[in-house]
Amino acid sequence: MGTKEQHIFKSRRAAAIDAEISVPPDKSISHRAVLLASLSNGRCEISNFLEGEDCRSTAAAMRQLGVMIESPEPGKLIVEGMAGRFTKPFGDLDCGNSGTTMRLMSGILASQPFQTRLIGDASLSKRPMQRVIDPLRLMGAKLHAEGEKSCPPLVVEESSGLQGITYRLPVASAQVKSAVLLAGLFAKGTTTVIENVRSRDHTERMLQYFLVKAKREEVWENKNSPKHRRLVEIRTTLEGGQIPESMDFTVPGDISSAAFWMVAAAAAPGSRLLIKDVGLNPTRTGIIDVLVRMGARIREVIESSFHGEPIGNLDIKGGKLRATEIRGAEIPNVIDEIPILAVAAALAEGTTVIRDAAELRVKETDRIAVVASHLRAMGAKVEEFPDGMAITGGAPLKGARLQSHHDHRIAMAFSIAGLFASGETVMEGTDCVNTSYPGFEQTLRVMQKGGKMKRKTRELTGLKGTGKPAMRPAATA
Ligand code: S3P
Repeated sequence: MGTKEQHIFKSRRAAAIDAEISVPPDKSISHRAVLLASLSNGRCEISNFLEGEDCRSTAAAMRQLGVMIESPEPGKLIVEGMAGRFTKPFGDLDCGNSGTTMRLMSGILASQPFQTRLIGDASLSKRPMQRVIDPLRLMGAKLHAEGEKSCPPLVVEESSGLQGITYRLPVASAQVKSAVLLAGLFAKGTTTVIENVRSRDHTERMLQYFLVKAKREEVWENKNSPKHRRLVEIRTTLEGGQIPESMDFTVPGDISSAAFWMVAAAAAPGSRLLIKDVGLNPTRTGIIDVLVRMGARIREVIESSFHGEPIGNLDIKGGKLRATEIRGAEIPNVIDEIPILAVAAALAEGTTVIRDAAELRVKETDRIAVVASHLRAMGAKVEEFPDGMAITGGAPLKGARLQSHHDHRIAMAFSIAGLFASGETVMEGTDCVNTSYPGFEQTLRVMQKGGKMKRKTRELTGLKGTGKPAMRPAATA
């Protein structure tokens, strides 16, 4: 690997895919596994931990707070939980590129009897932290951002105790929800987080798995009418003063990483791709629904529910895609998949409209602006809105020289676009891919050749399918 700016991926038009793969461990779940294990009252073994830079930042920060974390082999962590009482770190806690690390850690640090300062790289230093500062201050935490417009560094001062609150999330954000719930564990009284739109629920599931008593209630309008029912809100409540019980945990494959190959296979007629042992939590599987609406043929088989998270296989057959609309309550479910779904849209007949996704502007980069400009560079027609875009697909794509803007999902999405374009696509600045998908480039090379050499699926420790039927029927034949 060369210096940061020099590392590139090259891709060009590929044959139909015929492959069986597994994908790296889930990033969101790996972060939470280290955090919950560190908060717990004893020794926890985490298997299939994502050895990506983002999750390593979380583990490194916990180590700086005094947690003993050993890694006897790649993907395995032995964490000695400290029952929520950490020690003052030497120096700043470096969250690298990871918004999840900074926001979730802020919830944990809010109750600690010492001051901490959280820093990040150039991209994270431009991401808004007011969204965690507001609720944590309401709980009695003292924290402030040192950067302009409430951007990092984030200073969390010595705590003199937190008070539980009821907080309605102003943005659909699993990171903010998780920060408040983690702070609530160490607050006096009851903490309730109310969401109007469902965001990923890994924190809630993991809290329950670590035997924290938490209650989840859904409020519906017209609940008994499948046609007219509407989810009004979701309330998650927990009592403060609970210490998570130490537990072993195995992380499933990351559907957000699988998404790149799902699109690569779904959009290539004649392709067949089996993705094994991937997390199929319904707050993350919106990508399947969207691709099925676009005409993709995907069979989803939930094999088991492991450590509170559904896991299974995805079987994808390639075909012609058509345009769709992605908006409203579906957006948080596919928020990380929009760059690759935009590529799918450029390969589909008709105009795909993506709205209500303004959050994309404050991800690792402004993903609306970058996706629009990259798609245009490859020959697609794109109209940009403040909260989304309209992509007219179907015209042949042409290879281009593109910049990742240090955003892993941009780098991967447009390397996949290159598999469908004439000429060569060069993606510059691809080191960022290591934040979530170490090994992406090797798989890209295999897929470039149609993936014909069947890749052996790595069995996850302790992950054995029960052979139970799918939780929801195969999306389509
Ligand atoms: C994440 C939540 C999402 C997502 C991010 C990971 C998490 O962010 O985009 O990649 O692990 O909680 P928001 O909750 O801010 O939307």
